[in-house]
Amino acid sequence: MIDWLESRTGLVTATRNFLTEDVPGGASYWYVFGSATLIVLAIQILTGIILTFYYSPSGITAWESTLFIYRHVVWGPFLISLHYWGASAMIVLMSMHLLQVLLFGAYKKPREIQWVVGVLLFFIVLSMGLTGYLLPWDLNAYFATQVAINIAASVPVIGPFIYHFLSDGSTLGTLTIGRFYGLHVWATPVAILGLVGLHLFIFKHNGSAGPPSDEPAKTFGRFYPNQIFMEALTALVIVVIVVVLAIVMPAPLLAKADPNNAQFIPAPAWYFYALYGLLRMFPQNLSLVPTVILPGLFTMVLLLLPWLDRNPSRALARRPYAIPLTILTVGAIIAITWYSAKVIGAEQAASPVGQTPVVGYGAPANAVANVVPVVNVMAATPGPGAGGAAAAAMPSGDQIFAQNCASCHQAKGQGLPGAFPPIAGNPMVTGDPAKVIKTVENGLTGQISVNGASFNGAMPAWKGKLSPAEIAAVITYIRTSWGNHASPVTEAQVKATR
Ligand code: HEC
Repeated sequence: MIDWLESRTGLVTATRNFLTEDVPGGASYWYVFGSATLIVLAIQILTGIILTFYYSPSGITAWESTLFIYRHVVWGPFLISLHYWGASAMIVLMSMHLLQVLLFGAYKKPREIQWVVGVLLFFIVLSMGLTGYLLPWDLNAYFATQVAINIAASVPVIGPFIYHFLSDGSTLGTLTIGRFYGLHVWATPVAILGLVGLHLFIFKHNGSAGPPSDEPAKTFGRFYPNQIFMEALTALVIVVIVVVLAIVMPAPLLAKADPNNAQFIPAPAWYFYALYGLLRMFPQNLSLVPTVILPGLFTMVLLLLPWLDRNPSRALARRPYAIPLTILTVGAIIAITWYSAKVIGAEQAASPVGQTPVVGYGAPANAVANVVPVVNVMAATPGPGAGGAAAAAMPSGDQIFAQNCASCHQAKGQGLPGAFPPIAGNPMVTGDPAKVIKTVENGLTGQISVNGASFNGAMPAWKGKLSPAEIAAVITYIRTSWGNHASPVTEAQVKATR
Protein backbone atom coordinates (compact mmCIF):
# COMPACT_ATOMS: atom_id res chain seq x y z
CA MET A 1 0.00 0.00 0.00
CA ILE A 2 2.88 2.33 0.81
CA ASP A 3 4.41 1.62 -2.61
CA TRP A 4 1.04 2.30 -4.21
CA LEU A 5 0.71 5.62 -2.40
CA GLU A 6 4.31 6.55 -3.19
CA SER A 7 3.99 5.83 -6.90
CA ARG A 8 0.90 8.00 -7.14
CA THR A 9 1.79 10.91 -4.85
CA GLY A 10 5.47 10.90 -3.88
CA LEU A 11 4.29 11.61 -0.34
CA VAL A 12 6.34 8.82 1.24
CA THR A 13 9.66 10.10 -0.11
CA ALA A 14 8.68 13.64 0.75
CA THR A 15 7.94 12.66 4.37
CA ARG A 16 11.17 10.64 4.63
CA ASN A 17 13.21 13.54 3.24
CA PHE A 18 11.54 15.87 5.67
CA LEU A 19 12.18 13.70 8.71
CA THR A 20 15.76 12.76 7.88
CA GLU A 21 16.75 16.36 7.30
CA ASP A 22 20.17 17.32 8.68
CA VAL A 23 20.33 19.83 11.50
CA PRO A 24 23.77 21.51 11.22
CA GLY A 25 25.53 21.77 14.56
CA GLY A 26 23.01 19.41 16.18
CA ALA A 27 19.45 19.83 17.40
CA SER A 28 18.85 22.88 19.60
CA TYR A 29 16.10 24.69 21.49
CA TRP A 30 17.21 27.85 19.69
CA TYR A 31 15.36 26.65 16.60
CA VAL A 32 11.95 25.92 18.10
CA PHE A 33 10.31 29.35 17.83
CA GLY A 34 9.36 29.11 14.17
CA SER A 35 7.52 25.83 14.53
CA ALA A 36 5.98 27.00 17.82
CA THR A 37 4.56 30.02 15.97
CA LEU A 38 3.11 27.63 13.41
CA ILE A 39 1.43 25.54 16.13
CA VAL A 40 -0.21 28.63 17.62
CA LEU A 41 -1.30 29.70 14.12
CA ALA A 42 -3.08 26.34 13.86
CA ILE A 43 -4.84 27.03 17.19
CA GLN A 44 -5.89 30.47 15.92
CA ILE A 45 -7.27 29.05 12.68
CA LEU A 46 -9.18 26.30 14.45
CA THR A 47 -10.68 28.49 17.19
CA GLY A 48 -11.27 31.29 14.67
CA ILE A 49 -13.29 29.04 12.37
CA ILE A 50 -15.47 27.86 15.25
CA LEU A 51 -16.01 31.47 16.38
CA THR A 52 -17.34 32.38 12.93
CA PHE A 53 -20.09 29.79 13.45
CA TYR A 54 -21.61 32.10 16.08
CA TYR A 55 -20.30 35.58 15.46
CA SER A 56 -22.53 37.92 13.48
CA PRO A 57 -20.79 40.98 12.00
CA SER A 58 -23.08 44.01 12.27
CA GLY A 59 -23.50 47.00 14.54
CA ILE A 60 -26.55 45.53 16.21
CA THR A 61 -25.32 41.93 16.53
CA ALA A 62 -21.51 41.94 16.86
CA TRP A 63 -21.44 42.55 20.62
CA GLU A 64 -24.62 40.57 21.25
CA SER A 65 -23.34 37.52 19.37
CA THR A 66 -20.02 37.73 21.22
CA LEU A 67 -21.91 37.78 24.51
CA PHE A 68 -23.95 34.86 23.21
CA ILE A 69 -20.73 32.87 22.80
CA TYR A 70 -19.86 33.56 26.45
CA ARG A 71 -23.30 32.80 27.76
CA HIS A 72 -24.81 30.06 25.62
CA VAL A 73 -22.15 28.24 23.62
CA VAL A 74 -20.74 25.11 25.24
CA TRP A 75 -17.12 25.91 26.14
CA GLY A 76 -17.74 29.35 24.58
CA PRO A 77 -15.71 31.43 27.06
CA PHE A 78 -12.85 28.93 26.76
CA LEU A 79 -12.98 29.09 22.97
CA ILE A 80 -12.92 32.88 22.85
CA SER A 81 -10.18 33.02 25.48
CA LEU A 82 -8.01 30.51 23.61
CA HIS A 83 -8.26 32.75 20.56
CA TYR A 84 -7.54 35.82 22.70
CA TRP A 85 -4.42 34.40 24.39
CA GLY A 86 -3.37 32.62 21.20
CA ALA A 87 -3.03 36.02 19.53
CA SER A 88 -0.61 37.19 22.23
CA ALA A 89 1.30 33.90 22.19
CA MET A 90 1.69 34.12 18.45
CA ILE A 91 3.15 37.61 18.62
CA VAL A 92 5.54 36.66 21.45
CA LEU A 93 6.77 33.52 19.63
CA MET A 94 7.06 35.29 16.31
CA SER A 95 9.16 38.00 17.97
CA MET A 96 11.40 35.37 19.60
CA HIS A 97 11.82 33.69 16.22
CA LEU A 98 12.73 37.01 14.64
CA LEU A 99 15.24 37.79 17.40
CA GLN A 100 16.86 34.37 17.13
CA VAL A 101 17.31 34.77 13.36
CA LEU A 102 18.69 38.24 13.98
CA LEU A 103 21.24 37.11 16.57
CA PHE A 104 22.32 34.07 14.55
CA GLY A 105 22.78 36.23 11.45
CA ALA A 106 20.51 33.80 9.63
CA TYR A 107 19.07 36.59 7.47
CA LYS A 108 22.33 36.85 5.54
CA LYS A 109 23.04 35.42 2.10
CA PRO A 110 21.46 33.16 0.82
CA ARG A 111 18.43 33.64 3.10
CA GLU A 112 17.53 37.26 2.24
CA ILE A 113 14.18 36.48 0.65
CA GLN A 114 13.24 34.08 3.44
CA TRP A 115 13.90 36.91 5.90
CA VAL A 116 11.83 39.43 3.89
CA VAL A 117 8.90 37.00 3.75
CA GLY A 118 9.24 36.50 7.52
CA VAL A 119 9.22 40.25 8.20
CA LEU A 120 6.13 40.65 6.00
CA LEU A 121 4.48 37.88 8.03
CA PHE A 122 5.40 39.71 11.23
CA PHE A 123 3.59 42.88 10.19
CA ILE A 124 0.63 41.05 8.65
CA VAL A 125 0.14 39.06 11.86
CA LEU A 126 0.25 42.34 13.83
CA SER A 127 -2.48 43.66 11.53
CA MET A 128 -4.56 40.59 12.45
CA GLY A 129 -4.32 41.78 16.05
CA LEU A 130 -5.71 45.14 14.98
CA THR A 131 -8.61 43.86 12.86
CA GLY A 132 -9.57 41.23 15.43
CA TYR A 133 -9.61 43.80 18.22
CA LEU A 134 -12.65 45.59 16.75
CA LEU A 135 -14.84 42.55 16.26
CA PRO A 136 -16.28 42.11 19.81
CA TRP A 137 -17.61 45.68 19.40
CA ASP A 138 -17.28 46.59 23.06
CA LEU A 139 -16.20 50.01 24.35
CA ASN A 140 -12.53 49.18 24.14
CA ALA A 141 -12.82 47.73 20.64
CA TYR A 142 -14.62 50.83 19.45
CA PHE A 143 -12.44 53.55 20.93
CA ALA A 144 -9.07 51.85 20.45
CA THR A 145 -9.91 51.21 16.80
CA GLN A 146 -11.05 54.81 16.41
CA VAL A 147 -7.56 55.91 17.45
CA ALA A 148 -5.93 53.45 15.05
CA ILE A 149 -8.13 54.47 12.11
CA ASN A 150 -7.59 58.17 12.74
CA ILE A 151 -3.84 57.63 12.83
CA ALA A 152 -4.01 55.74 9.54
CA ALA A 153 -6.01 58.66 8.15
CA SER A 154 -3.28 61.16 9.04
CA VAL A 155 -0.73 59.47 6.77
CA PRO A 156 0.03 61.88 3.91
CA VAL A 157 -1.54 61.20 0.49
CA ILE A 158 -2.92 57.68 1.09
CA GLY A 159 -4.36 58.43 4.58
CA PRO A 160 -7.85 59.54 3.47
CA PHE A 161 -8.10 56.51 1.19
CA ILE A 162 -7.15 54.11 4.02
CA TYR A 163 -9.58 55.89 6.32
CA HIS A 164 -12.50 55.48 3.95
CA PHE A 165 -11.56 51.94 3.06
CA LEU A 166 -11.40 50.84 6.70
CA SER A 167 -14.32 52.76 8.18
CA ASP A 168 -16.45 52.81 5.02
CA GLY A 169 -18.40 55.83 6.18
CA SER A 170 -17.99 58.87 8.35
CA THR A 171 -18.38 56.95 11.61
CA LEU A 172 -17.55 53.42 12.70
CA GLY A 173 -20.54 51.14 12.24
CA THR A 174 -21.82 48.03 10.52
CA LEU A 175 -19.87 48.78 7.35
CA THR A 176 -16.67 49.11 9.40
CA ILE A 177 -17.35 45.80 11.13
CA GLY A 178 -17.88 44.21 7.70
CA ARG A 179 -14.55 45.53 6.47
CA PHE A 180 -12.66 44.35 9.54
CA TYR A 181 -14.43 41.00 9.52
CA GLY A 182 -13.61 40.39 5.86
CA LEU A 183 -9.99 41.33 6.45
CA HIS A 184 -9.70 39.30 9.65
CA VAL A 185 -11.32 36.02 8.66
CA TRP A 186 -10.53 35.82 5.00
CA ALA A 187 -8.24 38.28 3.24
CA THR A 188 -5.42 38.40 5.81
CA PRO A 189 -5.47 34.67 6.69
CA VAL A 190 -5.12 33.79 3.00
CA ALA A 191 -2.12 36.12 2.78
CA ILE A 192 -0.66 34.56 5.95
CA LEU A 193 -1.08 30.99 4.71
CA GLY A 194 0.42 31.87 1.34
CA LEU A 195 3.42 33.58 2.90
CA VAL A 196 3.93 30.78 5.47
CA GLY A 197 3.97 28.31 2.57
CA LEU A 198 6.53 30.44 0.75
CA HIS A 199 8.59 30.84 3.94
CA LEU A 200 8.71 27.06 4.44
CA PHE A 201 9.36 26.36 0.78
CA ILE A 202 12.39 28.66 0.80
CA PHE A 203 13.47 27.09 4.10
CA LYS A 204 13.49 23.67 2.41
CA HIS A 205 15.52 25.15 -0.42
CA ASN A 206 18.22 26.71 1.80
CA GLY A 207 18.19 24.21 4.68
CA SER A 208 18.67 25.32 8.28
CA ALA A 209 21.24 27.99 8.88
CA GLY A 210 22.79 26.31 11.90
CA PRO A 211 24.88 27.98 14.61
CA PRO A 212 26.22 31.53 14.14
CA SER A 213 29.60 30.61 12.76
CA ASP A 214 31.44 31.13 9.48
CA GLU A 215 32.89 27.63 9.31
CA PRO A 216 30.67 24.94 7.79
CA ALA A 217 29.14 22.77 10.54
CA LYS A 218 31.19 19.67 11.46
CA THR A 219 28.53 17.86 13.47
CA PHE A 220 25.01 17.19 12.34
CA GLY A 221 21.88 16.24 14.24
CA ARG A 222 18.79 14.60 12.80
CA PHE A 223 15.51 16.40 12.45
CA TYR A 224 13.82 13.15 13.49
CA PRO A 225 13.96 12.28 16.36
CA ASN A 226 16.28 14.91 17.99
CA GLN A 227 14.95 18.23 16.76
CA ILE A 228 11.32 17.16 16.44
CA PHE A 229 11.34 16.07 20.10
CA MET A 230 12.39 19.57 21.19
CA GLU A 231 9.78 21.15 18.95
CA ALA A 232 7.04 18.86 20.23
CA LEU A 233 8.01 19.50 23.87
CA THR A 234 7.99 23.28 23.28
CA ALA A 235 4.62 23.07 21.53
CA LEU A 236 3.23 21.13 24.50
CA VAL A 237 4.50 23.70 27.01
CA ILE A 238 3.03 26.55 24.97
CA VAL A 239 -0.34 24.86 24.51
CA VAL A 240 -0.47 24.24 28.28
CA ILE A 241 0.35 27.89 29.03
CA VAL A 242 -2.29 29.19 26.60
CA VAL A 243 -4.92 26.77 27.94
CA VAL A 244 -4.17 27.70 31.56
CA LEU A 245 -4.35 31.42 30.75
CA ALA A 246 -7.64 30.91 28.89
CA ILE A 247 -9.10 29.18 31.94
CA VAL A 248 -7.64 31.41 34.67
CA MET A 249 -7.98 34.76 32.87
CA PRO A 250 -10.81 34.51 30.32
CA ALA A 251 -10.90 37.25 27.69
CA PRO A 252 -12.79 40.30 29.01
CA LEU A 253 -15.80 41.73 27.16
CA LEU A 254 -16.76 45.26 28.21
CA ALA A 255 -20.11 47.00 27.74
CA LYS A 256 -21.30 47.46 24.17
CA ALA A 257 -19.64 50.12 21.98
CA ASP A 258 -21.26 53.50 22.53
CA PRO A 259 -19.76 56.39 20.54
CA ASN A 260 -21.11 58.88 23.06
CA ASN A 261 -19.55 57.25 26.09
CA ALA A 262 -16.51 59.45 25.62
CA GLN A 263 -15.38 59.19 29.22
CA PHE A 264 -14.12 55.75 28.44
CA ILE A 265 -10.32 55.47 28.24
CA PRO A 266 -9.46 52.85 25.62
CA ALA A 267 -6.38 50.67 25.74
CA PRO A 268 -4.92 49.02 22.65
CA ALA A 269 -3.66 45.44 22.70
CA TRP A 270 -0.36 45.29 24.64
CA TYR A 271 1.68 44.77 21.48
CA PHE A 272 0.56 48.21 20.27
CA TYR A 273 1.39 49.95 23.56
CA ALA A 274 4.78 51.04 22.21
CA LEU A 275 3.19 52.77 19.21
CA TYR A 276 0.53 54.34 21.42
CA GLY A 277 3.19 55.54 23.86
CA LEU A 278 5.20 57.09 21.01
CA LEU A 279 2.16 59.19 20.08
CA ARG A 280 2.18 60.80 23.48
CA MET A 281 5.88 61.58 23.42
CA PHE A 282 5.70 64.04 20.53
CA PRO A 283 3.99 67.44 20.22
CA GLN A 284 1.05 67.81 17.83
CA ASN A 285 2.97 69.58 15.08
CA LEU A 286 5.49 66.68 14.95
CA SER A 287 2.75 64.06 14.79
CA LEU A 288 4.15 62.54 11.61
CA VAL A 289 7.20 61.36 13.57
CA PRO A 290 5.35 58.81 15.76
CA THR A 291 2.60 57.96 13.25
CA VAL A 292 4.52 57.60 10.01
CA ILE A 293 8.25 58.30 10.16
CA LEU A 294 9.38 56.09 13.07
CA PRO A 295 7.13 53.08 12.26
CA GLY A 296 8.02 53.45 8.56
CA LEU A 297 11.73 53.57 9.35
CA PHE A 298 11.46 50.54 11.64
CA THR A 299 9.67 48.58 8.90
CA MET A 300 12.16 49.60 6.22
CA VAL A 301 15.22 48.75 8.34
CA LEU A 302 13.79 45.32 9.14
CA LEU A 303 12.81 44.58 5.53
CA LEU A 304 16.11 45.76 4.06
CA LEU A 305 18.36 44.42 6.83
CA PRO A 306 20.06 41.75 4.68
CA TRP A 307 21.27 44.54 2.35
CA LEU A 308 21.84 47.28 4.94
CA ASP A 309 24.10 44.94 6.90
CA ARG A 310 27.04 44.55 4.51
CA ASN A 311 29.04 42.39 6.90
CA PRO A 312 29.09 38.86 5.41
CA SER A 313 30.15 37.21 8.66
CA ARG A 314 27.68 35.35 10.83
CA ALA A 315 30.00 34.76 13.78
CA LEU A 316 29.02 36.99 16.70
CA ALA A 317 32.67 37.81 17.43
CA ARG A 318 32.90 39.46 14.01
CA ARG A 319 29.60 41.35 14.38
CA PRO A 320 30.36 43.81 17.21
CA TYR A 321 27.22 45.91 16.59
CA ALA A 322 24.67 43.13 16.21
CA ILE A 323 24.06 42.43 19.90
CA PRO A 324 24.25 46.01 21.26
CA LEU A 325 21.93 47.35 18.51
CA THR A 326 19.41 44.55 19.03
CA ILE A 327 19.44 45.06 22.81
CA LEU A 328 19.06 48.82 22.34
CA THR A 329 16.05 48.44 20.01
CA VAL A 330 14.31 45.81 22.10
CA GLY A 331 15.07 47.82 25.25
CA ALA A 332 13.57 50.97 23.73
CA ILE A 333 10.42 49.11 22.67
CA ILE A 334 10.01 47.62 26.16
CA ALA A 335 10.65 51.00 27.83
CA ILE A 336 8.06 52.82 25.67
CA THR A 337 5.59 49.97 26.22
CA TRP A 338 6.10 50.32 29.97
CA TYR A 339 5.72 54.10 29.81
CA SER A 340 2.55 53.73 27.73
CA ALA A 341 1.09 51.18 30.16
CA LYS A 342 1.71 53.61 33.01
CA VAL A 343 0.04 56.53 31.19
CA ILE A 344 -2.98 54.44 30.15
CA GLY A 345 -3.26 52.92 33.63
CA ALA A 346 -3.21 56.35 35.30
CA GLU A 347 -5.83 57.73 32.91
CA GLN A 348 -8.08 54.71 33.41
CA ALA A 349 -7.77 55.01 37.19
CA ALA A 350 -8.77 58.70 36.97
CA SER A 351 -11.71 58.05 34.63
CA PRO A 352 -15.14 57.93 36.26
CA VAL A 353 -16.20 55.20 33.81
CA GLY A 354 -15.11 51.81 35.09
CA GLN A 355 -13.27 49.29 32.96
CA THR A 356 -15.22 46.42 34.51
CA PRO A 357 -15.99 43.78 31.91
CA VAL A 358 -19.50 42.36 31.54
CA VAL A 359 -17.95 38.90 31.25
CA GLY A 360 -14.42 37.48 31.31
CA TYR A 361 -11.45 38.23 33.56
CA GLY A 362 -12.29 40.92 36.12
CA ALA A 363 -16.06 40.65 35.63
CA PRO A 364 -18.35 40.14 38.65
CA ALA A 365 -17.99 36.58 39.91
CA ASN A 366 -21.20 35.04 38.61
CA ALA A 367 -21.30 36.90 35.28
CA VAL A 368 -20.66 33.97 32.98
CA ALA A 369 -22.95 31.56 34.76
CA ASN A 370 -25.63 34.17 35.21
CA VAL A 371 -27.95 33.94 32.23
CA VAL A 372 -29.28 37.47 32.02
CA PRO A 373 -31.12 38.62 28.90
CA VAL A 374 -29.02 41.00 26.83
CA VAL A 375 -31.40 43.93 27.27
CA ASN A 376 -30.96 43.79 31.02
CA VAL A 377 -27.20 43.79 30.72
CA MET A 378 -27.34 46.93 28.66
CA ALA A 379 -29.86 48.56 30.93
CA ALA A 380 -27.59 47.78 33.86
CA THR A 381 -24.74 49.83 32.39
CA PRO A 382 -26.20 53.24 31.56
CA GLY A 383 -23.91 55.56 29.64
CA PRO A 384 -23.59 59.25 30.40
CA GLY A 385 -26.65 61.27 29.60
CA ALA A 386 -28.89 58.28 30.26
CA GLY A 387 -31.49 60.59 31.72
CA GLY A 388 -33.38 59.95 34.94
CA ALA A 389 -32.11 61.30 38.22
CA ALA A 390 -28.59 61.87 36.86
CA ALA A 391 -29.86 64.49 34.42
CA ALA A 392 -31.70 66.47 37.08
CA ALA A 393 -28.78 68.71 38.00
CA MET A 394 -27.17 70.56 35.10
CA PRO A 395 -23.47 69.60 35.00
CA SER A 396 -20.85 72.30 34.55
CA GLY A 397 -18.82 72.81 31.36
CA ASP A 398 -15.76 71.02 32.72
CA GLN A 399 -17.84 68.00 33.75
CA ILE A 400 -19.50 67.84 30.33
CA PHE A 401 -16.07 68.03 28.72
CA ALA A 402 -14.64 65.34 30.99
CA GLN A 403 -17.60 63.08 30.30
CA ASN A 404 -18.03 63.57 26.58
CA CYS A 405 -14.95 65.03 24.96
CA ALA A 406 -11.85 64.19 27.00
CA SER A 407 -11.39 60.61 25.84
CA CYS A 408 -10.67 61.91 22.36
CA HIS A 409 -9.44 65.48 22.89
CA GLN A 410 -7.69 64.49 26.17
CA ALA A 411 -8.09 65.88 29.67
CA LYS A 412 -6.37 69.22 29.05
CA GLY A 413 -7.67 69.61 25.51
CA GLN A 414 -4.22 68.79 24.15
CA GLY A 415 -5.52 66.22 21.63
CA LEU A 416 -3.65 63.13 20.48
CA PRO A 417 -1.13 63.58 17.64
CA GLY A 418 -2.43 62.20 14.39
CA ALA A 419 -5.73 61.11 15.90
CA PHE A 420 -7.61 63.93 17.63
CA PRO A 421 -7.04 67.68 17.15
CA PRO A 422 -6.09 69.84 20.13
CA ILE A 423 -8.76 72.15 21.56
CA ALA A 424 -6.26 74.16 23.61
CA GLY A 425 -4.51 76.79 21.53
CA ASN A 426 -6.72 76.01 18.54
CA PRO A 427 -7.65 79.26 16.69
CA MET A 428 -10.83 77.65 15.30
CA VAL A 429 -12.12 77.06 18.85
CA THR A 430 -11.47 80.64 19.92
CA GLY A 431 -12.73 82.02 16.59
CA ASP A 432 -16.27 82.54 15.29
CA PRO A 433 -18.59 81.06 17.96
CA ALA A 434 -21.26 80.14 15.37
CA LYS A 435 -18.77 77.86 13.63
CA VAL A 436 -17.80 76.13 16.88
CA ILE A 437 -21.48 75.62 17.77
CA LYS A 438 -22.18 74.10 14.34
CA THR A 439 -19.18 71.76 14.65
CA VAL A 440 -20.14 70.50 18.09
CA GLU A 441 -23.82 70.16 17.19
CA ASN A 442 -23.42 68.44 13.82
CA GLY A 443 -20.06 66.73 14.15
CA LEU A 444 -17.23 67.02 11.65
CA THR A 445 -15.48 64.82 9.10
CA GLY A 446 -12.94 65.46 6.41
CA GLN A 447 -9.41 66.79 6.44
CA ILE A 448 -8.75 69.72 8.79
CA SER A 449 -5.54 71.47 9.71
CA VAL A 450 -4.77 72.80 13.19
CA ASN A 451 -1.59 74.87 13.65
CA GLY A 452 0.04 73.04 10.76
CA ALA A 453 -0.91 69.51 11.90
CA SER A 454 -3.53 67.74 9.82
CA PHE A 455 -6.34 65.48 11.02
CA ASN A 456 -8.84 63.41 9.16
CA GLY A 457 -11.07 61.68 11.64
CA ALA A 458 -14.70 61.79 12.62
CA MET A 459 -16.10 63.96 15.38
CA PRO A 460 -19.53 62.73 16.56
CA ALA A 461 -22.58 65.03 16.47
CA TRP A 462 -23.85 66.16 19.88
CA LYS A 463 -27.24 67.58 18.90
CA GLY A 464 -29.86 65.48 20.66
CA LYS A 465 -27.22 63.93 22.95
CA LEU A 466 -26.51 67.15 24.83
CA SER A 467 -29.09 69.88 25.48
CA PRO A 468 -28.53 73.39 24.07
CA ALA A 469 -27.65 74.53 27.61
CA GLU A 470 -25.05 71.77 27.95
CA ILE A 471 -23.59 72.53 24.51
CA ALA A 472 -23.35 76.21 25.46
CA ALA A 473 -21.64 75.28 28.75
CA VAL A 474 -19.06 72.98 27.18
CA ILE A 475 -18.25 75.43 24.37
CA THR A 476 -17.85 78.22 26.90
CA TYR A 477 -15.55 75.91 28.83
CA ILE A 478 -13.33 75.03 25.86
CA ARG A 479 -13.18 78.67 24.75
CA THR A 480 -11.98 79.82 28.16
CA SER A 481 -9.71 77.03 29.40
CA TRP A 482 -6.05 75.95 29.00
CA GLY A 483 -4.96 79.39 27.81
CA ASN A 484 -7.90 79.89 25.44
CA HIS A 485 -9.44 83.36 25.88
CA ALA A 486 -12.63 83.87 23.88
CA SER A 487 -16.17 85.05 24.53
CA PRO A 488 -18.57 82.69 26.30
CA VAL A 489 -21.45 81.13 24.38
CA THR A 490 -25.05 81.26 25.61
CA GLU A 491 -27.91 78.81 25.30
CA ALA A 492 -29.74 81.37 23.14
CA GLN A 493 -26.83 81.42 20.67
CA VAL A 494 -26.93 77.63 20.39
CA LYS A 495 -30.69 77.67 19.79
CA ALA A 496 -30.30 80.46 17.22
CA THR A 497 -28.03 78.33 15.01
CA ARG A 498 -30.63 75.55 14.75
C1 HEC B 1 -14.86 60.10 19.28
C2 HEC B 1 -13.87 61.12 19.45
C3 HEC B 1 -14.34 62.55 19.70
C4 HEC B 1 -15.14 63.01 20.71
C5 HEC B 1 -15.81 62.20 21.79
C6 HEC B 1 -15.23 64.44 20.55
N1 HEC B 1 -14.49 64.83 19.46
FE1 HEC B 1 -14.27 66.74 18.79
N2 HEC B 1 -13.24 66.04 17.19
C7 HEC B 1 -12.89 64.73 16.98
C8 HEC B 1 -12.19 64.62 15.73
C9 HEC B 1 -11.59 63.34 15.13
C10 HEC B 1 -12.15 65.92 15.18
C11 HEC B 1 -11.53 66.32 13.84
C12 HEC B 1 -12.52 65.98 12.74
C13 HEC B 1 -11.91 66.08 11.36
O1 HEC B 1 -10.76 65.74 11.22
O2 HEC B 1 -12.65 66.49 10.45
C14 HEC B 1 -12.81 66.78 16.13
C15 HEC B 1 -12.97 68.16 15.97
C16 HEC B 1 -13.49 69.00 16.93
C17 HEC B 1 -13.56 70.44 16.81
C18 HEC B 1 -13.09 71.25 15.62
C19 HEC B 1 -11.62 71.53 15.72
C20 HEC B 1 -11.12 72.29 14.51
O3 HEC B 1 -10.00 72.78 14.59
O4 HEC B 1 -11.83 72.35 13.48
C21 HEC B 1 -14.14 70.92 17.97
C22 HEC B 1 -14.42 72.38 18.30
C23 HEC B 1 -14.44 69.78 18.79
N3 HEC B 1 -14.03 68.64 18.13
C24 HEC B 1 -15.03 69.86 20.04
C25 HEC B 1 -15.48 68.76 20.75
C26 HEC B 1 -16.30 68.82 21.92
C27 HEC B 1 -16.76 70.11 22.61
C28 HEC B 1 -16.57 67.55 22.29
C29 HEC B 1 -17.44 67.08 23.44
C30 HEC B 1 -18.79 67.55 23.50
C31 HEC B 1 -15.91 66.67 21.34
N4 HEC B 1 -15.26 67.44 20.41
C32 HEC B 1 -15.93 65.28 21.40
C33 HEC B 1 -13.13 63.65 17.81
C34 HEC B 1 -13.94 63.71 18.92
